[in-house]
Amino acid sequence: MWFPSLALGLVLAVTAGQCDDRLPPASHTMFPKGFKFGASTAAYQVEGGWDADGKGPSIWDDYLHKHPDYIKNRNNGDVADDSYHFYKDDVRALKEVGFQTYRFSIAWPRVLPNGRTSHINQAGIDYYMNVIDELLANGIEPVVALYHWDLPTPLQEIGGWLNPDIADLFTEYADLMFQTYGDKVKWWITINEAQSVAGGYGGDNAAPVLNLHGTGDYLAGHNLLRAHGKTYRLYQRKYSHQGGKLSMAFCGAPCFPTTQTPEDIAAADRCFQFSFGWFGHPVLKGDYPPVMREYVDRNSKAEGRNVSRLPYFTEEEIREINGTVDWFGLNYYTAYWGKEGAVGANPSVDRDSNVNKYFDPNWPATATTWMKVIPQGLRLAIQKVRQEFGNIPIIVTENGYPDHGDLDEKRIDYFETHLAEMRQAIYEDGINVIGYCLWSIIDNFEWRDGYTVKFGIVEVDFNSPNKTRTLKKSAYWFQNYMAMHKLLE
Ligand SMILES: *[C@@H]1O[C@H](CO)[C@@H](O)[C@H](O)[C@H]1NC(C)=O
Ligand SMILES: *[C@@H]1O[C@H](CO)[C@@H](O)[C@H](O)[C@H]1NC(C)=O
Ligand SMILES: *[C@@H]1O[C@H](CO)[C@@H](O)[C@H](O)[C@H]1NC(C)=O
Repeated sequence: MWFPSLALGLVLAVTAGQCDDRLPPASHTMFPKGFKFGASTAAYQVEGGWDADGKGPSIWDDYLHKHPDYIKNRNNGDVADDSYHFYKDDVRALKEVGFQTYRFSIAWPRVLPNGRTSHINQAGIDYYMNVIDELLANGIEPVVALYHWDLPTPLQEIGGWLNPDIADLFTEYADLMFQTYGDKVKWWITINEAQSVAGGYGGDNAAPVLNLHGTGDYLAGHNLLRAHGKTYRLYQRKYSHQGGKLSMAFCGAPCFPTTQTPEDIAAADRCFQFSFGWFGHPVLKGDYPPVMREYVDRNSKAEGRNVSRLPYFTEEEIREINGTVDWFGLNYYTAYWGKEGAVGANPSVDRDSNVNKYFDPNWPATATTWMKVIPQGLRLAIQKVRQEFGNIPIIVTENGYPDHGDLDEKRIDYFETHLAEMRQAIYEDGINVIGYCLWSIIDNFEWRDGYTVKFGIVEVDFNSPNKTRTLKKSAYWFQNYMAMHKLLE
């Protein structure tokens, strides 16, 4: 793949000369110096050991124990890939593929079984120290997420992310993590996909499955942002000497406007503002996107409410939250067409956005209903981030292809086409993309799809006692791709 495009680039550069400056020079098939390639996982999806050595329960442990039918084949994360015991096999796989970076998450209830710092589980602290040491010993840089959805159950019992006190409790947990690992970890993600976390309060697609649509999601989102802001300020005050860089991992499926009418163009923009913007705008510009404020306030009023369903930050909170990401973590899987139109439950975030989002029937389907393959959407998401938030360094923190264990060739296509779009964003659009972490290094527990849907470039034999890891073709493809396209330091 690389040689023909390099050759073509050279020929065009020679024959076209200065005539068409949109043509990238040949070197643009290479990634910039220092570009990081890595792979991602999340604690609940890979670790298992759900109650091992003093770990407390999370809302996912509890919800799936009480409602096994919630997940395909009644699967859960009790054992998963058993990375709690076999993390060295994960690191070996990362090393073999040749990644420079590993993005994983810390399970809050593994280190703080009650969610509070009054009781620290030393075995949990030791586990993550071992993972980090194993990575560093193999020349792999850790990128650590503090929250990938597994809230300690005792904190859900006081309302979880609906309770304003959660912001301080999260900050105390983060404080302990910075203090414990901060001399070794320089890249931090506070919250992974705050929108999905909020969705667990506003919808039924994630624990705690509260279905408070149009209210619970906004309130949870508000407290997630308050927690993030406080944590960032704490890091600045207490840990800036560690020299780490903090972000959130933002998510969303951007929309292409259905037509070029002003209505559809505005609708496609709202699609962005109500997803990436919902969390990105406050941390980069100090408050919710103006269009989000306007639409939710207007709908709330029309419903006869005396307060908006979208909470207001105090002046002090705005100052605390504004300017609290050093880089932009971008999770991208899929995109939509978008046009004006109120759809979804009433009230709900979707309905407030007044965007009718739909898949193109011609985009290839995948093993999961929530995504189709549309590589151009990655470039669109990156462009929108640049347009809205300026030239902040971007790391694609998740991107990957699901199958039933049968379409690894399509996974290779997915990576190849998405990486090509990312290169265009870097070279043609001049956007500061500094890294890419695919999802995922290993097949793992894919939330509601259980183990039926596989995102790994490494296969896991879930029936074997050692959860044997075997590199797939896509892993070797990636190994080769990095060798061909990566400029060494
Ligand atoms: C956020 O900070 C920026 C840069 O200091 C400033 O221009 C902007 O007005 C602030 N936003 C709010 C809502 O205060
Ligand atoms: C809003 O209405 C609720 C009852 O619907 C009432 O309890 C509350 O005091 C009102 N708040 C304001 C600020 O008027
Ligand atoms: C599983 O791992 C243990 C400990 O590393 C090892 O002794 C054993 O031989 C392995 N079993 C298999 C089937 O690979």
